[in-house]
Amino acid sequence: KKSLPVYTLEDVAEHATKNDRIWVTYGQGVYDITDFVEEHPGGDKILMAAGGSLEPFWLLYAVHKNPHVFALLEQFRIGNL
Ligand code: HEM
Repeated sequence: KKSLPVYTLEDVAEHATKNDRIWVTYGQGVYDITDFVEEHPGGDKILMAAGGSLEPFWLLYAVHKNPHVFALLEQFRIGNL
């Protein structure tokens, strides 16, 4: 997605707590999921990905491999790597 800002992995890693906002990556996408954490059907497990990539976790929890989950994730997009 053009027009969104570009961030580094280091930028993402600096956003790993609610105070600093919680960012994650998926592919080239950067997402601010702070406001979703409380809504997550899988509870606090979502925090395992804080400041890093969702991919290793979503490989383990295949419930996310679903169009409605990807659509939800895109709503939180703030930029690209
Ligand atoms: C379930 C979204 C990150 C673990 C779900 C569901 C959604 C969701 C929508 C319900 C799926 C359904 O049945 O339709 C997200 C989003 C994430 C995220 C948007 C990141 C932005 C994670 C991470 C983990 C995780 C990082 C594990 C480390 C789980 C588990 C469930 C679940 C275990 C199943 C809960 C249950 O049905 O008992 N997630 N998830 N999620 N998620 Fe996540």
